[in-house]
Amino acid sequence: MAAVRDSDGEKSSFRWLNAVRYVVAAAVFVLIVAVAANAIKVVLRPDTILFSVPGSSVFTRRFPRSRVEGDKLLFSFTVRALNPSGRARMYYYNITAYFFDNTTTPATESRSPSDDCLILFELGDMNVAPMQYEDTTKVLNTTRDPDHITTSFFDKLNKPAAARINDVVTMRVDGTLVTESISGFNTTPKLTTYYCRQLVVGLNPEDQASLSSQATRCTIS
Ligand SMILES: *[C@@H]1O[C@H](CO)[C@@H](O)[C@H](O)[C@H]1NC(C)=O
Ligand SMILES: *[C@@H]1O[C@H](CO)[C@@H](O)[C@H](O)[C@H]1NC(C)=O
Ligand SMILES: *[C@@H]1O[C@H](CO)[C@@H](O)[C@H](O)[C@H]1NC(C)=O
Repeated sequence: MAAVRDSDGEKSSFRWLNAVRYVVAAAVFVLIVAVAANAIKVVLRPDTILFSVPGSSVFTRRFPRSRVEGDKLLFSFTVRALNPSGRARMYYYNITAYFFDNTTTPATESRSPSDDCLILFELGDMNVAPMQYEDTTKVLNTTRDPDHITTSFFDKLNKPAAARINDVVTMRVDGTLVTESISGFNTTPKLTTYYCRQLVVGLNPEDQASLSSQATRCTIS
């Protein structure tokens, strides 16, 4: 009798163990399905480029008084375009970056941003492979020429001691976005605008290394 009871006990504990295995297996299966569904969603989603400013900074360096042109201010900054899509190449082209501060509004629907901005930069085209990113670095000298930069912005940055404008500068980025899938089918070109807010403007380019990995994520609105 004792032997039978023992074997019953063993059997029921085996059954119990089996039930646990089924539950674990079912949970793992559900997890795999969820991960796969998410992966498919990511692959098929007609995503947009993720735009950011590595270092969250726009560097300037002052070159005082060249006899012909007066003081010069060198601007240098990098933008990063990340393609989150698993299979579609993305083209972001005819890109212009416009700078605004807290005295100007970067989101002007009625007027062209070039009328209101502090300064603008042509950034050309970016062509980003699936799951890759591409950086574009702009380096440009400007003089105190109101056709290219507002004089107040130039004067704020054109200081012998390192001038710095924190938190109030927004970079608006306009460009045309086209997504190409593996079948070669392209989406309709779409004007896409990003806003990169609260940038630091005016560090020396030499400070770039000390800035570590912080980046400003730009948003669509
Ligand atoms: C390029 O962008 C500028 C400013 O956004 C715009 O005025 C111009 O029409 C665009 N050119 C092309 C070829 O799309
Ligand atoms: C803009 O920000 C600066 C600080 O960087 C501040 O001194 C100034 O008062 C602000 N102007 C407006 C209109 O908010
Ligand atoms: C900017 O101007 C300075 C001084 O004239 C010069 O040394 C430097 O090479 C220029 N940089 C660019 C990118 O034009």
